Amino acid sequence: MQRWTLDLDSSDWRNTPDAESACAALLRGELAAVPTETVYGLAADATNGKACARIFEAKGRPQFNPLISHLPSVEAAEMHGIFDARAHALARAFWPGPLTLVLPKRETSSICDLATAGLPSVALRVPAGPVMRFLSEKTGRPLAAPSANRSGRISPTRAQDVLDDLGPSLGVVIDAGPCSVGIESTIVGLVDDKPRLLRPGGLSREDIEAVLGEPLEAASADTSPDQPSAPGMLSSHYAPNAALVLNASEADREDALLSFGPERLPGAETARAEFNLSPTGDLAEAAANLFIAMRTLDASGTRTIRAQVIPSFGLGEAINDRLKRAAAPRG
Ligand code: TXA
Ligand code: MG
Repeated sequence: MQRWTLDLDSSDWRNTPDAESACAALLRGELAAVPTETVYGLAADATNGKACARIFEAKGRPQFNPLISHLPSVEAAEMHGIFDARAHALARAFWPGPLTLVLPKRETSSICDLATAGLPSVALRVPAGPVMRFLSEKTGRPLAAPSANRSGRISPTRAQDVLDDLGPSLGVVIDAGPCSVGIESTIVGLVDDKPRLLRPGGLSREDIEAVLGEPLEAASADTSPDQPSAPGMLSSHYAPNAALVLNASEADREDALLSFGPERLPGAETARAEFNLSPTGDLAEAAANLFIAMRTLDASGTRTIRAQVIPSFGLGEAINDRLKRAAAPRG
């Protein structure tokens, strides 16, 4: 395995032997763990069926669960999806950024059927994280990338999280430090007359609705990620080892506490462990800390993590979605 540690503030990371060999590995059909602004992705050439099959194998992911393809620009994305006026408005407003659009797939798209699970639609994203964009541009390939964790586990926001979870199956691991958004992209479906929120994520519903000028509907039966056609959000997901209890009103000596905001719950001082997602009550900071907090509290060896209530507006919708799934009964 090759580990490439890079400093995004230095201007020359693109012109290094490490950059060359990461591109060469992807073109040979190997997997690379690549940072984006949301989470670390497990990337492969989306036009190469064998390479995409390796993603499913490494993650232990069901093959009926399609992948997001990452592209360097709106123009590159237009080669694969059919953009209507709504898609253009969202792409203009939020790309590069933590937004994925599910669009009708172009017949001429080179993205393989395994990446789209044979669906007539395709999930596309132009990430703000420059490494994924660079690799896609340089290889000239759309890069399919789910989060770089074993299926059903906590998503990785640091290179070490990827190594802990997937280690040996990786050709290349690229370390550019922690992800700034820290929660996966928001997925919007634009395949029928209603824009649909398929997954809340790092871009808030309110921001998207302001650009669309209409509300986002819930996923329909045939586009919902909970349906067998695209089940990326199976109800138990993002699971820590400990049991997660929601809406805690007090802490317990035996348990770890996932807190939020300046007000401390009764008993917080004597809890086994505590992680405050944002002492000032900032939801963006809380989102960036969420998966690190789950991993940290898990490492305390606790059997139970109690989570304080988090507001449900803005990025709170995505945080609560992940907490709810982490608390769901394990299948
Ligand atoms: O932030 C992110 O989105 C990260 C980074 C790496 O970009 N990726 C990510 O991928 O979270 P993943 O595979 O963990 O989640 C992709 C989701 C799944 O829920 C999948 O079902 C959904 O996208 N999806 C993909 N194609 C779809 C389609 N054609 N229709 C409906 N849902 C789709
Ligand atoms: Mg995932």
